Amino acid sequence: IRHRSIYDAIGGVETIKKIVDSFYSRVAKHPLLIPIFPEDLTETARRQTLFLTQFFGGPRAYEAERGHPMMRRRHLPFPITPSRRDAWLDCMEEALNEVGIEEPYRTVMFEKLTLTANHMMNTPE
Ligand code: HEM
Repeated sequence: IRHRSIYDAIGGVETIKKIVDSFYSRVAKHPLLIPIFPEDLTETARRQTLFLTQFFGGPRAYEAERGHPMMRRRHLPFPITPSRRDAWLDCMEEALNEVGIEEPYRTVMFEKLTLTANHMMNTPE
């Protein structure tokens, strides 16, 4: 049998969009993140919605449009230090809380995102 995905359990793309909106409104105000993100986050947020849909077990929306995720490689142009990793995760944790993602999904999602964020670090402090 196939288990229900996290994506379905939390409410699908509508919930992913709420998380992404809340997340990038925090990124846009974070002093460590502002310098490496574009000023207009519209396209970044759209791609992140496609990615998180797929990442949490929904349709393979990101791959369909952008090809193989290669997330570490796509992040190499940006200096991602340990403190930027922490900042990114703080924004994401607050977004999951603001949207009201319930347990056990909140913790499972945050742990999966933490593993990927660790993998994205490419620059010492
Ligand atoms: C794109 C920073 C972690 C998913 C980007 C961009 C930056 C960035 C600067 C480019 C934005 C643009 O030019 O539009 C960071 C930092 C991280 C981090 C500082 C801290 C660890 C993650 C994680 C994920 C992720 C953990 C996924 C779980 C993405 C996606 C894109 C992206 C999907 C768009 C890629 C595309 O263009 O197709 N990130 N990121 N990032 N990031 Fe991250």
